[in-house]
Amino acid sequence: MTFQKNILITGGAGFIGSHLVRLMVNKYPDYRIINLDALTYAGNLENLKDVETKPNYAFERVDITKSDEVQAVFAKYDVDSVIHLAAESHVDRSITNPMAFVETNVIGTVVLLNAAKNHWKDFDGKLFYHVSTDEVYGTLGPTGLFKETTSYDPRSPYSASKASSDHFVRAYFHTYDMPVVLSNCSNNYGPYQFPEKLLPLFINNIKHNKALPVYGDGKYTRDWLWVEDHAAAIDVIFHKGISGETYNIGGNNEWTNIDLIYLLCDIMDDELGREKGTSKELITFVKDRPGHDKRYAIDASKLKNELGWGPSVKFPEGLIKTARWYLNNVDWMENVTSGAYQAYYKKQYDE
Ligand code: NAD
Ligand code: DAU
Repeated sequence: MTFQKNILITGGAGFIGSHLVRLMVNKYPDYRIINLDALTYAGNLENLKDVETKPNYAFERVDITKSDEVQAVFAKYDVDSVIHLAAESHVDRSITNPMAFVETNVIGTVVLLNAAKNHWKDFDGKLFYHVSTDEVYGTLGPTGLFKETTSYDPRSPYSASKASSDHFVRAYFHTYDMPVVLSNCSNNYGPYQFPEKLLPLFINNIKHNKALPVYGDGKYTRDWLWVEDHAAAIDVIFHKGISGETYNIGGNNEWTNIDLIYLLCDIMDDELGREKGTSKELITFVKDRPGHDKRYAIDASKLKNELGWGPSVKFPEGLIKTARWYLNNVDWMENVTSGAYQAYYKKQYDE
């Protein structure tokens, strides 16, 4: 079968990547979607059970730092477009092991850029789309919004590695004329997020009556976006974005951590049939994250005005849907945290 496009999505077994793969496989049967993922602790093929038998879906277990293997995937599928999400994504892990972030986020991105440059004899109909984060812009005071023109000021090893990868992608645009687009997005929430991140961790802890470790005074602000809205934005930017441009993506939905946690606690009390106030008793203020960015907030007006995208899911509906999903998907939670499931899949692909 000949496909209209052969799109390599890296990190497709992760949180955002799995939503994007699902959207692209289902919406575009004429595109072949090749999911390239190393299946680290954060990547789980269980996130994609509903698409794995589709004729326009393929999976390759490859580490993006391995140049020969990446190059071989480009050749095998004659890849013409890349949507690059594979990354080490957790700020706390970057504080304890920065080198893993340099390897995957910086070196892995350059390996992919080189593979694309080598495979693409010309750039006609080609695109390298880099999915990045608002954390590259650093931290905001009580007012103001990150714009695409905001200077980079990364403060954690994670954001420094993502900033570096953004710069490499832009360098390939300027130096080699490679067609690229970038997007920088705020905090995503929804199903299939690994339970090290705030919301799935706290939902799981509340369910099991475990402490909720709030860093510092909890007065840190994040802008929360429903993950399927992010996937929809990537679809729009992939098809309509202008080469060389960057688009900020956000939910226009700012919450301090502590207010968000209070809201989540109330929702969880309702969902679990507990007396109102029960879950809040689990809140424990703990030592702050080093270099903790005070506030992120996105100005997504360029994306709205130029390409017509806006967020569709609001709070509290999105947060209620999220809480219900984790409560209803007990097997998923157990599988991704047990290690046994991951060992099973890794063994399959190692053989
Ligand atoms: P995630 O940690 O859930 O998933 C990352 C995926 O990348 C996993 O499937 C993992 O197996 C894979 N991976 C990691 N190292 C790899 C390697 N060396 N080779 C191949 N695959 C590898 O991450 P996420 O939250 O879905 O984030 C996806 C992308 O979006 C990242 O680039 C992240 O920086 C960016 N982003 C995330 C958010 C957010 O709120 N989660 C917001 C903005 C941008
Ligand atoms: O802004 C986009 C970024 O959002 C993405 O680039 C990252 O990949 C993603 O992980 C996310 O980063 P954060 O550091 O904002 O997400 P996290 O869920 O780790 O933390 C959200 C906030 O909650 C942050 O202020 C730290 C705080 N926190 C987090 C955890 C895990 C706590 O107070 N306690 C916790 O246990």
